[in-house]
Amino acid sequence: MANNEELFKKITSHAKEYGFIFPSSEIYDGMAAVYDYGQWGVELKNNIRSYWWKAMTQMHENIVGIDTSIFMNPTIWKASGHVDAFNDPLIDNKDSKKRYRADVLIEDHIAKIEDKINKEVEKAIKRFGEDFNKEQFCSTNPRVLEHSAKIREITARYATAMQNNDLADIKQLIEDLEIVCPVSGTRNWTEVRQFNLMFSTKIGSVSDEADVIYLRPETAQGIFVNYLNVQKTGRMKIPFGIAQTGKAFRNEIVARQFIFRMREFEQMEMQFFVRPGEELKWFSYWKQERMRWHLSLGMSASKYRFHDHEKLAHYANAATDIEFEFPFGFKELEGIHSRTDFDLKRHQEFSGKKLQYFDPELNDSYVPYVVETSIGLDRMFLAIFANSFTEETLDDGSSRVVLRLPRVLAPVKAAILPLVKKDGMPEKAREIMNKLKYDFNLIYEEKDAIGKRYRRQDAIGTPYCITIDSQTSEDDTVTVRERDTMQQERLPIANLASYIRENINPLIQ
Ligand code: GAP
Repeated sequence: MANNEELFKKITSHAKEYGFIFPSSEIYDGMAAVYDYGQWGVELKNNIRSYWWKAMTQMHENIVGIDTSIFMNPTIWKASGHVDAFNDPLIDNKDSKKRYRADVLIEDHIAKIEDKINKEVEKAIKRFGEDFNKEQFCSTNPRVLEHSAKIREITARYATAMQNNDLADIKQLIEDLEIVCPVSGTRNWTEVRQFNLMFSTKIGSVSDEADVIYLRPETAQGIFVNYLNVQKTGRMKIPFGIAQTGKAFRNEIVARQFIFRMREFEQMEMQFFVRPGEELKWFSYWKQERMRWHLSLGMSASKYRFHDHEKLAHYANAATDIEFEFPFGFKELEGIHSRTDFDLKRHQEFSGKKLQYFDPELNDSYVPYVVETSIGLDRMFLAIFANSFTEETLDDGSSRVVLRLPRVLAPVKAAILPLVKKDGMPEKAREIMNKLKYDFNLIYEEKDAIGKRYRRQDAIGTPYCITIDSQTSEDDTVTVRERDTMQQERLPIANLASYIRENINPLIQ
């Protein structure tokens, strides 16, 4: 655990040092849980968004994209349930005056029990060596069984209390588990209260007449309220999907773990409209399809897992999370939900407008059912960035930090490096740059020794370093150094564009 904390610290400082992510408003001492993307961060973020967008729209004939506004008619949030039920349970410690999410306190307590299980496993690995069978050990060892049962018991009690909105029992659970405030160390807690996560503001210039409006907490509702516009103008036939990326805002009580949980973040969501009764088939399709998208980026399959929801929200009839192993453990990266016809029916009711679809094959009208895929762009950024960060000791004993980003997502695809600043090398380098810059994002660097320049590119994840040397003027060839293997090969300048294109992972098929 301590090692992972250390690693996570390194990752966050690397993100700042190399221009990926800066704390927002830093010169004014920052702003909690809000971050700015720097020169390389914005490129990586744009590339992730575009990889998702193309996989959704370009690769699926029946999915189109839209871009809806952040401000919407406030009744939308009444209809969606956000005004009444988009709450987190919070609790204050009376001694430290610190505020916590009750569920996070309970989650942290569970994580401590999981740590105990992991310690038992580590001890057993040492004891049994090669013969160790983790599954068997975890299903038979009395201490592990006791810990696992405890976790199940806490999870079930918490879920029931939340479902019944029984805030008193959540407080009781915190007391029964003897959870203390990490700051004051005491158990002097307030009652648990519900806290609405939507940010509100007022519209209009005369404050008396001003109406309260909300900053959208999810992009999905912009899709629901435009579903008929898109269906009609795009002559879409069910099943079809609408995709959208954009900012969402949530007044998170506890914002932690860098860009994992922010107050202003970006979502990439897709609502897939289907015939009633066919939603579970499509739910299972999108579950596999989204996992396929993740794996197409080349990160290890062992880093991902599904977490099917046992207790479902009242509007859902199936839900799963794709979890990713962040440095702080497996956490939700993406949600896939079968949302029935809940949202469209509610909008129909609140707007008074019919939101039905006439199905020519069935010769019948109905409110479509919806399967949603929803992923946080910033969270995906963190997953990729953390997974790519590698510290290596090289054969000569020196070390390097390399970001092994999926090449298709790398902010810069190639660095153009004249070996020295003379003998016509910079001019030749500029010539190559001018040829390639229309197809690839490039960087030109002539300062410092070549080794130092390679290291700088490794640190921002540039897959190729193209070096122009004395041989270039003789035969129009250059050396191309690959980021991960550090192997170099000599290539004709004329082949560079096709070489880079072919070696940047193809988009998911
Ligand atoms: N429309 C469904 C919806 O918004 P959600 O589980 O609340 O579902 C979807 O959010 C995804 O958005 C999450 O899986 C996560 O990746 C991302 N997300 C949610 N809250 C976030 C936050 N505060 N900061 C960063 N990403 C967040």
